[in-house]
Amino acid sequence: MDLYQKDVVSIMDFSKDDIEGILDMAEEMVPYAKGEKIKRSLDGKILGNLFFEPSTRTKLSFESAAYRLGCDVIDVSEMSMTSMAKGETLADTIKIVDAYCDVTVLRHPYEGASKMAAKFSDHPVINAGDGAGSHPTQTLLDLFTMKRSKGSIDGLNIALVGDLKYGRTVHSLADALTMFGAKLTFVAPESLQMPSDIVDSLRRKGCEPYQTSKLEEVVGSADVLYVTRIQRERFPDPAEYQKVAGTYRIDNKILREAKSDLIVMHPLPRVDEIASEVDGTEHA
Ligand code: NCD
Repeated sequence: MDLYQKDVVSIMDFSKDDIEGILDMAEEMVPYAKGEKIKRSLDGKILGNLFFEPSTRTKLSFESAAYRLGCDVIDVSEMSMTSMAKGETLADTIKIVDAYCDVTVLRHPYEGASKMAAKFSDHPVINAGDGAGSHPTQTLLDLFTMKRSKGSIDGLNIALVGDLKYGRTVHSLADALTMFGAKLTFVAPESLQMPSDIVDSLRRKGCEPYQTSKLEEVVGSADVLYVTRIQRERFPDPAEYQKVAGTYRIDNKILREAKSDLIVMHPLPRVDEIASEVDGTEHA
């Protein structure tokens, strides 16, 4: 696995072997992430954290990981606080950040923003979410969680639930799970089903996803329920959002039908898709 100076734009930038290598390394890094062991392997480096969309977990996880490894962080969180507010292009902004940093982490409302940023940067660019496009680092984390709690991903019944149209986490996750031989079910209201170009590309790779709008159909057979937020900010028309808001809600009642070792995952933030009573169960 040679990831030196590589961009992370899409999960498809990695082979299955690369991903397995990263997951093994992640396992070794847990004590460092918790601060139980100290490593300063990024001493003297600078990470540029550019978050042009709201974020708590992703932004802080990059910051925390950087500091844990001795790397300094400079960041911007508001487009209005950058020269973009004066009309500067993203390409120019990226070139400047690239000149000051050893790696750029970018979250941006436009699909394809990280791919473009990677073109204009000499140093690596990490996609921390590009609009409704993809979210490869969240997928690495999700695979890590699944592997840790299930041992292996191969053959697992995994249901992706919620906003599969605008949700970038599920786009990357479906690609990765296909590499790992999982059986996929897509549970979404018809208007928010997985985009057909993604489904076609999964099929070409040998995955035959089952698509439904009925959560009750899948709860009993799933090993993993991966629940997502309806992405309100991506709807062109608020009335369309209202039609689908609150479609699914996982609570202890619905989980009575579930396998005892079903795990419920969510990339967070959650709105009302998972009742907080579920947090106290073995499924969480
Ligand atoms: C997700 C995102 O930003 O795509 N959150 C995350 O990064 N963990 C999910 C979401 O916003 O619903």
